[in-house]
Amino acid sequence: MLNIVLFGPPGSGKGTQAEKLIKKYNLIHISTGDLLRSEVANKTSLGTEAKKIMDAGELVPDEIVIGMIRKKLEEHKDGPGFVFDGFPRTVEQARELRKALTDYDERVTMEISLEVPRGELLKRLVKRGEESGRSDDNEETINNRIDVYERQTVPVTYYYEKMHKHVPVNGIGTIDQIFKRIVDAVEGFEKFHEAGA
Ligand code: AP5
Repeated sequence: MLNIVLFGPPGSGKGTQAEKLIKKYNLIHISTGDLLRSEVANKTSLGTEAKKIMDAGELVPDEIVIGMIRKKLEEHKDGPGFVFDGFPRTVEQARELRKALTDYDERVTMEISLEVPRGELLKRLVKRGEESGRSDDNEETINNRIDVYERQTVPVTYYYEKMHKHVPVNGIGTIDQIFKRIVDAVEGFEKFHEAGA
């Protein structure tokens, strides 16, 4: 299986690039943000609770997202692999993902980290907020989402760095330019490991 953690701050292009990756490598896309927004749209009790947290730009409790991930892994356990988009977002989530994949004799192949400066993130998300009306795409919440990312989520990169799975990718440029960098990173990483390095 090819299991890619697609990592990066809010607005770095995780969702956009995940769509292209799943097509190229025939993978299953798991976005915890999309799963939570679907709970909100369906007005479930989980969705009602999550909406308040998401609108504030904070993180939904680990046990909720881990439960959603375990369910998705079970549904697609015989598939070719996954792109995890927006997950893991805490070191605890990364540890739990490791445990859950181990249950299927699997592991995270690599973590690709899209690197985009705050000014560009703000520009992209304010624009999307104006066009799509996503309720957490307003300047105040975007800034808090980025602060939460820096405080609670960046440590996940150190977790994968220690395992030699962290691969930074420049997330500035056209969508196709960035995708090419990601594909080069995936293929370079696989070749390196096939060579037994
Ligand atoms: P989530 O849905 O994961 O949102 P996010 O991380 O804030 O990321 P975005 O979807 O805003 O951005 P993206 O990086 O996917 O970029 P995109 O491709 O969309 O999470 C939302 C909330 O849910 C969280 O705040 C939290 O409350 C909760 N949550 C989710 N997962 C959780 C977890 N694991 N644990 C706890 N809580 C969790 O692109 C953004 C925009 O930029 C788009 O308009 C796009 O068209 C544009 N764009 C993309 N690429 C480019 C480019 N190269 N140049 C110009 N524009 C571009």
